[in-house]
Amino acid sequence: EKAGFDHFMLKEIYEQPKAYRDTMRGRVSEDNNSVSLTEIGMTAEQVKGIRKVHIVACGTAYHAGLVGKTVIERMARIPVETDVASEYRYRSPIITPDTLVIVVSQSGETADTLAALREAKRNGARVLAITNVVGSSVAREADDVLITWAGPEIAVASTKAYTSQLIAFYLFGVYLAQTLGTMEQAAITEVLTAMQQLPEQVEAVLEQSAVLKQVADSIAVHKNLFFIGRGVDFAVAQEGSLKLKEISYIHSEAYAAGELKHGTLALIEDGIPVIALVTQEELYEKTLSNIKEVKARGAHVLAIANAGSEVEVSKSVDELFAIPKTLPILSPAVSVIPLQLISYYASLAVGNDVDKPRNLAKSVTVE
Ligand code: BG6
Repeated sequence: EKAGFDHFMLKEIYEQPKAYRDTMRGRVSEDNNSVSLTEIGMTAEQVKGIRKVHIVACGTAYHAGLVGKTVIERMARIPVETDVASEYRYRSPIITPDTLVIVVSQSGETADTLAALREAKRNGARVLAITNVVGSSVAREADDVLITWAGPEIAVASTKAYTSQLIAFYLFGVYLAQTLGTMEQAAITEVLTAMQQLPEQVEAVLEQSAVLKQVADSIAVHKNLFFIGRGVDFAVAQEGSLKLKEISYIHSEAYAAGELKHGTLALIEDGIPVIALVTQEELYEKTLSNIKEVKARGAHVLAIANAGSEVEVSKSVDELFAIPKTLPILSPAVSVIPLQLISYYASLAVGNDVDKPRNLAKSVTVE
């Protein structure tokens, strides 16, 4: 059932182009002008009544929610907060009937997430679930459900579920924007057209897996590394760091690139690997100056950057892995792929059980 792959994780990484297509299927008009989410029962009036959004999730789904915050704020101009579910209830969040609470859960059974959903409903909020499992607890209890059609995910480390959650957020962001009139038609068409390219762009990254295996082998001898980025690149950095820790047990820290100098820059020593995400054109200059700060302290920097920006970026870094360029907001759906492969090969290099890392479970039903 691994379909010729050595591990479920690798199979699931390679299933992502299909997962993107399946999650978009029937939801994007043929002319790429609009999104239709018939499963969402909100009326236009209800959508217009949303004053704020809370995104609540655990683990990798939380990291999708960090991207979701930027997507919804940029596209729909509604303020969004993203919380880990185990913290959400205990901070006395201000949940009102005009709050939309979005719970994100691959399994739909995570106890912390379910408890947050129930708290939200008790306070009169409308709850939208983004989940991969039809009929799961979260799907049953939410008011609206947006299914990610990633198919069953077996490996504990989430890959195709995470990226399908990103696709769901993009679709939902456009859905809100077209109802609220917060995006020009041309901008909506641009996003939806670019989304159709994502599966092929992911395929192009997958074809480079041999290069990423080499990167992973060189990382696997280290005890510590950093992931840095700004904006959605920082959200992806956090996911990349988590993925690597989960399955290779190599410690890493994800830092907002500009915050490093206010924090743990002292930990950057000679030879330490730093993986820098550099996909946001408007932030290039700032991120590159942060890269210079770590280079000056001896870091070995690998940049994940857009094809076409090599000339600009490569002079500041030691290695560059180019990814196909998409719109800045969509880049997480491409830039996370090399990080997933690096984690996979690093786990293999250290001889771990890739699909079943120690101490972790696929679905956690205790709080
Ligand atoms: C965990 C898994 O504990 O639950 C993570 O090990 C996962 O990989 C997290 O991201 C959340 O799971 P779910 O099913 O709610 O998305």
